[in-house]
Order: sequence, then C-alpha cells, then structure tokens
Amino acid sequence: MSRRIALVTGAARGIGKAIAERLAAMGHHVIVADLNLEAAQQTAQAIGGSAGRLDVSNYLEVEAFMAQAQAQHGRLDILVNNAGIIRRGNLLSVSEDDWDRVIAVNLKGAFNCAKHAAPYMIKGGWGRIVNIVSIAAKTGDITSAPGYGSSKAGVVNLTKTLARELAPYGITANAVAPHAIETEMSAQWSEETRQRVLSGIPLGRLGKPQEVAAAVAFLVSEEAGFITGATLDINGGALMD
Ligand SMILES: NC(=O)c1ccc[n+]([C@@H]2O[C@H](COP(=O)([O-])OP(=O)(O)OC[C@H]3O[C@@H](n4cnc5c(N)ncnc54)[C@H](O)[C@@H]3O)[C@@H](O)[C@H]2O)c1
Repeated sequence: MSRRIALVTGAARGIGKAIAERLAAMGHHVIVADLNLEAAQQTAQAIGGSAGRLDVSNYLEVEAFMAQAQAQHGRLDILVNNAGIIRRGNLLSVSEDDWDRVIAVNLKGAFNCAKHAAPYMIKGGWGRIVNIVSIAAKTGDITSAPGYGSSKAGVVNLTKTLARELAPYGITANAVAPHAIETEMSAQWSEETRQRVLSGIPLGRLGKPQEVAAAVAFLVSEEAGFITGATLDINGGALMD
C-alpha cells in the first residue's frame, strides 16, 4: 500500500493514539488532531507525524484545519473520526448543556470532519473514512448517558449516508463499534459499573486500544476496498446481532 496522509481526531491519547501509532507503523503520515495540543504533539513526535489543535465541534475551525492539511501535504486520504466525549446522567438528571456538547462533539464533529475532508479525497480519487462509534449506538448507553448512545447511533447512520454519497469517488466509509476498552474514558467507571460491564462480556475481559486500531488498519487498507457502510463490532461478544 502506498504512503497515505491520514488524519486521526482525538488521537492525543486512548484509542485514537493507538490508531495513530498503528497507521504510522503501516507507513502512513499521521496528523494527530486533538483539543489537547501538548499531548497531541507528544503522540505525533513519537510516530514521526504532525499535530494540531482542533475542536471537531467547530465547523469553521475544522474547515480551516482540513484546508491546511491539504496545503501542507498535498493530499488527504484517510480520516478517522475518533474524538468523542461522554457526559454521565440519566434522562431526569442530564443537563441541556451536557446533551448539546455530546451531540456537538460526537455527531456534529464527525459530520464537520467528513464534510471538510471529503473534497480533498474526491480530488485524489481515493479515500477512507472510519468513524469510531460504540456498542451504545445499538443498545442505548448502559452506563447512563442518554446523549452518548444517541450521538453514536447518529454517526452509524451518517456512515451509511457517506458510504452511498462517496462511493462513486472511490471513497469508503465504515464504522467501528467498540465496547469496554481500557482507556481513561472507561477508567471513570465506578467499580459497580465495571463489574456489570465485565459480567456481560463472554470473553471475560476489557478490550485493548490496539484491538480497535487493528480493525481500523484493516478498514483503511486496499484489501477492504469492497467494504463500505458497515459497522464492525469489537465488543468481546457482548452484543451479537
Ligand atoms: N473507551 C471505551 O470503552 C470506548 C467504547 C466505545 C467507544 N469509544 C469511543 O472511542 C473514541 C475514543 O475513546 P477513548 O476511550 O480513547 O477516549 P479518551 O477520553 O481517552 O480520548 C478522547 C480524546 O479525544 C479528545 N477530544 C475530546 N473532545 C474533542 C474535541 N471536541 N475535538 C478534538 N478532540 C477532542 C480528547 O482530548 C482525548 O484526547 C470515542 O469516540 C469514544 O466514544 C470508547
């Protein structure tokens, strides 16, 4: 596979960082885009990539970021929409601000990035978009966060629309749906939640960020060229549908 220019959002840490490391190991140049510039720079430095501060929820900021990536590298081939947040609270307690922010980052963020990256992929005649969603897109969120599952379900639907619209240009769009991966996000769970989550996983353990990255590596490869609009579960068997 030739060397591609890949942009991974939220790649300063966690799953995004593992994806950035994996894509760099495949020989691609990786742009690490994250709200946390200092951590993004550390990740980028370790893999010989580049870094930039980006809030994916900001439409104009994303537009400018993609234009700059194109100007700097001459192409943009791979987009991984990984940046995501969760705000806890059940239906009765969740605030309007928390609902709005989760939708803005998780759903609108994926839209912003796909919209502003797609023109450059179209120009290059090849592209790969991978959206990191969640088991919660199908089940509703089991750790009590109504906006989270809703936002991820929206991204699954967006993925299918992107797959249809961009197919004529040689661009595929797929989603990866992890569950219970060992990162700072899952480290926030209470012990009760952790035990409840573990009891629902046939493989009996949490997943590793590298196991999500391996799926992304496949979906951006040439070999996955006939797969589009799909959602690949990485959940230890917690949901088989
Ligand atoms: N950890 C899990 O168990 C799990 C399960 C299912 C899905 N996911 C999804 O995987 C993705 C990564 O999760 P993680 O566990 O690595 O999370 P994390 O909290 O460890 O890392 C998220 C990264 O995104 C960045 N970020 C947050 N808001 C941003 C914004 N507006 N713009 C740009 N960057 C932003 C953060 O700075 C951070 O570096 C998320 O989309 C999450 O919903 C995680």
